[in-house]
Amino acid sequence: MILKQKTLLEVLPPDLDRDRLPKHVAAIMDGNGRWAKRQGMPRIMGHRQGVYALKDLLRCCKDWGIPALTVYAFSTENWGRPLEEVEFLMTLFEKVLRRELAEMMAENVRIRFVGNLEALPTSLQEEIARSMEDTKNNQDVEFTVATNYGGRQEIIQACREIAKKIKTGEIEPEAIDEQIFEEHLYTHDISNPDLLIRTSGEMRISNFLLWQMAYAEIYVTETPWPAFDREAFHQALIDYQQRERRFGKVGKKI
Ligand code: IPE
Ligand code: IPE
Ligand code: MG
Repeated sequence: MILKQKTLLEVLPPDLDRDRLPKHVAAIMDGNGRWAKRQGMPRIMGHRQGVYALKDLLRCCKDWGIPALTVYAFSTENWGRPLEEVEFLMTLFEKVLRRELAEMMAENVRIRFVGNLEALPTSLQEEIARSMEDTKNNQDVEFTVATNYGGRQEIIQACREIAKKIKTGEIEPEAIDEQIFEEHLYTHDISNPDLLIRTSGEMRISNFLLWQMAYAEIYVTETPWPAFDREAFHQALIDYQQRERRFGKVGKKI
């Protein structure tokens, strides 16, 4: 059997501790528009370029053994952008999904979408359904794409689901706890993120995974999303490994 030789880029950088990698990385892929403007191009070119950054990050998670990646692709508030930009993004999502499905199969990536998917164009919904179905048994990376996603909206829909079950007597109000609540979120079978990366400098959550982010380590970089490459991810992981996660307890270093 011929084993494929790993290139230098594919192996985990030696200054990272394999045992202390985040199990789940989330990313707010911000700064596409600003990146494009800086290059003298229209904003949409930043979105197009951003796809390459995402592909690279996904491959990096696979190569370095990070089992879950969740990215914010379109927020419930992003509908407020100019119509041409929204339409470009919807078409881009659909094209990329169609184009990349074979590779996700080859790379053993399971793709899932979270958000209010029913409000998306029908043709995009079809591609989404197909990609989720085709990749559902893949196991190397759990790749989740938040599309038409809003943290508040997710919490409200979970409340509605629970309220319905209370009405039919399926759940007692006193029985509601964190676990039951989590079971009604879009992310019910995905762990909470350990590390949140936000590109392009903004220090805010912008309605992303509000519940799930309770104890995520937040890393903000000035690098805009289209320029966020393996080296930038490496730096984020170095930073993460220097953090002491205390979860409200007293730390070892103090
Ligand atoms: C993030 O980049 C991509 C989406 C929100 C779809 P932006 O489009 O927000 O880029 P900036 O923040 O305006 O530079
Ligand atoms: C967050 O970025 C949403 C996505 C990356 C999809 P925005 O650019 O929409 O966030 P704000 O407007 O700067 O808060
Ligand atoms: Mg932005």
